[in-house]
Amino acid sequence: MLVTINEVLKPAHKAGYAVGAFNVYNLETAQAVIAAAELENSPVIMAVSEKAIEYAGFDNLTALLIEMAERSKVPVVVHLDHGTNLHTVKKCITCGFSSVMFDASTLPENERIRTTKEIAKFTHKHDIMIEGERDGLAGQEDDIEGEGRYTNPETAAVFVEETNIDAFAVSIGNAHGIPTPDEKLDFPRLEQIAKNVAVPLVLHGASGTPPSQIKQAISLGISKINIDTDLRLSFMATVHDVLINNPELKDPRKMLTEVKKAMTEVVKTKIRLFGSNGRI
Ligand code: G3H
Ligand code: ZN
Repeated sequence: MLVTINEVLKPAHKAGYAVGAFNVYNLETAQAVIAAAELENSPVIMAVSEKAIEYAGFDNLTALLIEMAERSKVPVVVHLDHGTNLHTVKKCITCGFSSVMFDASTLPENERIRTTKEIAKFTHKHDIMIEGERDGLAGQEDDIEGEGRYTNPETAAVFVEETNIDAFAVSIGNAHGIPTPDEKLDFPRLEQIAKNVAVPLVLHGASGTPPSQIKQAISLGISKINIDTDLRLSFMATVHDVLINNPELKDPRKMLTEVKKAMTEVVKTKIRLFGSNGRI
């Protein structure tokens, strides 16, 4: 069933587990994410970036994902990930997405609160919840290079309070893309942010983050965890293996069936790590 993000994050926040937000951009990624969630009896979030919309087409992707979410046996959120374009954010809200993220990190410092607050007001008017980001992450997502900053726990409290957002994405040393060897989460900072901020906290850039760090982050208040790169790597590695082992293959569906199986396994492993399995 299609649900709002509050319906999955509030119980997670209360019970101390996290819900995975997996980036999807076509039929196969969406099928893998929903299949894994159904096998694990877990709520799940399908995250759609602006680049995914550009790639697949807004109407195509919206029709596909909302229909799949509605027919699913488990709660599924269709969520705009890192929305920066106000027109796209508003269009997602009015066209059936059940959650949006507004990423204010690329705006000038003095415009971040005002713009996020305006979008939050619009979002709430449509009974949709909103995730906000203030500080930005290092690394690369969708070919966009980010600037890594650290969330200041005091500034975070003001940002959440003034904007009225429902979930807050933290910058605590996490980075998008394949992790660098020195990437390490700043747990004392996360602990302080969690003390200052009442809404569920979100960890972006969690591909490749060691399971022990993920578990510690959840124990300190992370309720939503974003995964993209790990699924892309699984997709590409499977394509590579299938073609190397079957150079004469003529039916793409045979290859994509293997791709879906591999991605489903990745999502299942993450769901268990995040502790959202069996929560339905
Ligand atoms: O918004 C999406 C993510 O933060 C995914 O990051 O590619 O490092 O898994 P990742
Ligand atoms: Zn992200």
